[in-house]
Amino acid sequence: VEILYFNKILNSWYSQNARDLLWRSTKDPYKIWLSEIILQQTRVAQGTPYYLKFVREYPTVFDLARAEQQDVLRLWQGLGYYSRARNMHATAQRIVAEFDGLFPRSAKELLQFKGLGAYTAAAVASFAFDEVVPAIDGNVYRVLARIFGISADILKPEGKREFQRLAEGLISREDPATYNQAMIEFGALQCVPVAPDCANCVFSDHCYAYAHQAQGRLPVKTKK
Ligand code: ADE
Repeated sequence: VEILYFNKILNSWYSQNARDLLWRSTKDPYKIWLSEIILQQTRVAQGTPYYLKFVREYPTVFDLARAEQQDVLRLWQGLGYYSRARNMHATAQRIVAEFDGLFPRSAKELLQFKGLGAYTAAAVASFAFDEVVPAIDGNVYRVLARIFGISADILKPEGKREFQRLAEGLISREDPATYNQAMIEFGALQCVPVAPDCANCVFSDHCYAYAHQAQGRLPVKTKK
């Protein structure tokens, strides 16, 4: 698919299918970061009540930074992967102590914090600050691998680089935040891992995986 055409199709799909998720109506980097940490290993339906609890209890990075760790962990109870909560708390304290409570604005700078990996750093920088960086999570790897027929291994550094290059070519320079949200949403709702409804997909005429019945083997993830 031509890049311009790809973005037209994606945008049109997104404008008709996007869920009205709470963290999509804010530009506050703290709230966006909080939502992305919660959603790392958690589904939207399970994560949303936690997002609401955290925003109510700790409305700003200053509130989270001065909380007791045990209180943060108590609020996190039920979500699992407690290192997420501990890292989040430590990062809030650093952002207050070293950055006056202001999140650095680039993905590159955000990578220095505990719990902020390549995906989360790019998500915060693009959603909050409109940086032109692709946020590539599992959803996005799947969409790119299938539509473009990329069989590089997403668990290997060379594979990751290939997807990164492809995504850098596709991302909208005018509205990178919407582009990234749309890719994630498309993977979450349409290009699902198992039994995607490819006959009813806006990319059906342009999708490598559908044409070759390769949905089940893409993306390629070999065990590390
Ligand atoms: N999962 C991770 N980030 C997300 C987001 N911004 N919207 C929906 N699902 C997500």
